[in-house]
Amino acid sequence: MTAPVGVFDSGVGGLSVAREIRRALPAEHLLYVADTAYVPYGDRGDQEVRARTLAIGEWIQAQGAKVLVVACNTASGAALEALRETLTIPVIGLEPALKPAVRQTRNGRVGVMATSGTLRSARFQRLVDNYADGVQVVRDPCPGLADLVEDGLLAGPELARRMEAYAAPLREAGVDTVVLGCTHYVFVRDAIRDALGPEVQLLDSGEAIARRTRQILEECGALAEGGLGTMRILTTGDPAEVTTIVHRLWGAVQDVERLEV
Ligand code: DGL
Repeated sequence: MTAPVGVFDSGVGGLSVAREIRRALPAEHLLYVADTAYVPYGDRGDQEVRARTLAIGEWIQAQGAKVLVVACNTASGAALEALRETLTIPVIGLEPALKPAVRQTRNGRVGVMATSGTLRSARFQRLVDNYADGVQVVRDPCPGLADLVEDGLLAGPELARRMEAYAAPLREAGVDTVVLGCTHYVFVRDAIRDALGPEVQLLDSGEAIARRTRQILEECGALAEGGLGTMRILTTGDPAEVTTIVHRLWGAVQDVERLEV
């Protein structure tokens, strides 16, 4: 078997990125790790997130992965540089899609829904400093929203009620473009759209990351060709619980495996 593309998130949110990689690069084998025992990263300190990210990145590299996609804005914000210094394989990180949002806003007001960890990171501040270009950036930490996705609350009146509260600061600020700056939020895009209204455009980074992954693999001459790649999923949490939500978000896969890291 050819080397897999490693994909990693605090939980199942990164499956929204893996889905785009699967769509763009169907022949690639994917090795996905959900650090469910430590989700949500957004509520943890930078040092802890960095330690977890390094431990899992090293494990994925040791499995023979040819590239690592950190499908988590929070982990990328806290640990991307450290990860690139530590690993020998190429590392692709995520950042909120602020650059396209700044290009696309018509009224000069952009919202960013992300974890508080991402929003307070120096990496995010640099993004704003370098690319906001006079556009007002409204930061919207969404405490508990990644957990709702982990728990399988993906639609319905209870989610709609909670989404009203998450959306309120963005509605008050009158933003016309909103960045989904956490990979979990992509799975509740419909509920976010309902709360913000159909005229607000929503952006995420999934497709751009899939394109970047192709580019890196091409540069390394490591692109898989032909056939359909496999998907192997591991969790540091309870495999039975994670299997239930994985089946809803990804479809039938072989059972989720337990990982001790
Ligand atoms: N999916 C992660 C991200 O993109 C964060 C969720 C969490 O708080 O663990 O930031």
